[in-house]
Amino acid sequence: MKVQVCIIGGGPSGLLLSQLLHLKGIDTIVLEKHSREHVLARIRAGVLEHGFAALMREARCGERMDREGEIHEGFFIAHDGVMDRVDLHKHSGGSSVVVYGQTELTRDLYEARDRMDGKVVHDAADVTPHDLKSDAPYVTYRDGDRIVRVDCDFVIGADGFHGVSRKSIPKEILREHERVYPFGWLGVLSRTKPVSPELIYSRHERGFALCSLRSQVLSRYYIQVPLTDKVEDWSDEAFWDELKRRLPADVAASLITGPSIEKSIAPLRSFVAEPMRYGRLFLAGDAAHIVPPTGARGLNSAASDIYYLYHAMVDHYEKGDDSGLDDYSRKALARVWKAQRFSWWMTTMLHRFPDSGSYEAKLQETELEYLFSSEKALGSLAENYVGLPF
Ligand code: FAD
Ligand code: DHB
Repeated sequence: MKVQVCIIGGGPSGLLLSQLLHLKGIDTIVLEKHSREHVLARIRAGVLEHGFAALMREARCGERMDREGEIHEGFFIAHDGVMDRVDLHKHSGGSSVVVYGQTELTRDLYEARDRMDGKVVHDAADVTPHDLKSDAPYVTYRDGDRIVRVDCDFVIGADGFHGVSRKSIPKEILREHERVYPFGWLGVLSRTKPVSPELIYSRHERGFALCSLRSQVLSRYYIQVPLTDKVEDWSDEAFWDELKRRLPADVAASLITGPSIEKSIAPLRSFVAEPMRYGRLFLAGDAAHIVPPTGARGLNSAASDIYYLYHAMVDHYEKGDDSGLDDYSRKALARVWKAQRFSWWMTTMLHRFPDSGSYEAKLQETELEYLFSSEKALGSLAENYVGLPF
């Protein structure tokens, strides 16, 4: 089989790029390791910046997002028993974020790919890129007993942190920068009315908590837990009790609890791989970089990669102009590192670190005190949270 662009990974990054390129007449295939049901069962991001929403519309996938997604113009930071509001709209000069679940967004992208007869292969086993430094790269995968070969002009590695693409870049070329945090987030999805119409990020001496949502009838809550904890250790009742302890008393009193419909633990990690290009291979999204979820930057960082790649590919095929492809890694990494800085800062300010003492706790308190006393500090938080320009 021959296509112009072979995309490894059918998560939001791979599907969005495939859809955008297809609309420009560029032929793609998406090779996804898992079944569609498996991909759609993962509960992940909930907060999208407008740049991402705009790309979804450009990909003709924004209709349901615009109908069902919620525009949020602010969020709260709870600390020391008080709730301080970050007015995103005011401090970012009129911007906001869209609350729309990654699961729904991925479903919309799959449906759009189906409508356009896009090539999406599920359960593609042993996906392997070959000859990436040549002008004729190809990718193989196994379909049952059959090995299928896909010849292409370019390979896109959009296969997440554990994928095969990044690992096919030689060790002497790839530089990896990593910080692993000594805790994870235990997340619960429940069919209950959210405790607050806007998100609450809570700093507490027992550990961080986040009250988020997918809609006004579907809540998503998280609590910081040690890496040694297992999901089975946490009954629903224990989760709700611990969440309440980490929220201001009046908020905890109004929390509506219910059975969890999903419960999982995500470890927290900061990670960047450089460069994001190797010959004809281009990395995008979590395949190249991971952030701790505190600043809601993960999927949004993938969006800027896709934006740059999309335009670079279109320039290549329509104008024979390769400057976008040549500059991709530098341009993408410049924005990626800013999202890394912001996520690291939000995480450090709001979590309890096992090895920290009273000095670090005082610094966290001072950070929050400064934040809510300075229009400039709030402006910096807001412009990063709504998303820096692409
Ligand atoms: P993925 O979603 O990981 O998709 C990669 C795909 O590649 C997967 O479907 C995988 O099955 C497939 N794959 C893997 N290996 C192979 C292989 N060898 N061959 C073929 N296919 C393969 N981000 C935000 O912006 N805002 C938020 O509010 C937010 N909240 C989050 C909350 C949590 C709890 C977590 C865990 C993450 C959150 N994120 C958030 C981050 C966001 O979910 C990720 O950044 C996003 O999923 C990245 O998309 P991706 O397509 O690059 O990678
Ligand atoms: C969600 C996750 C985040 O990391 C975040 O900062 C905000 C919301 C969520 O899953 O809803």
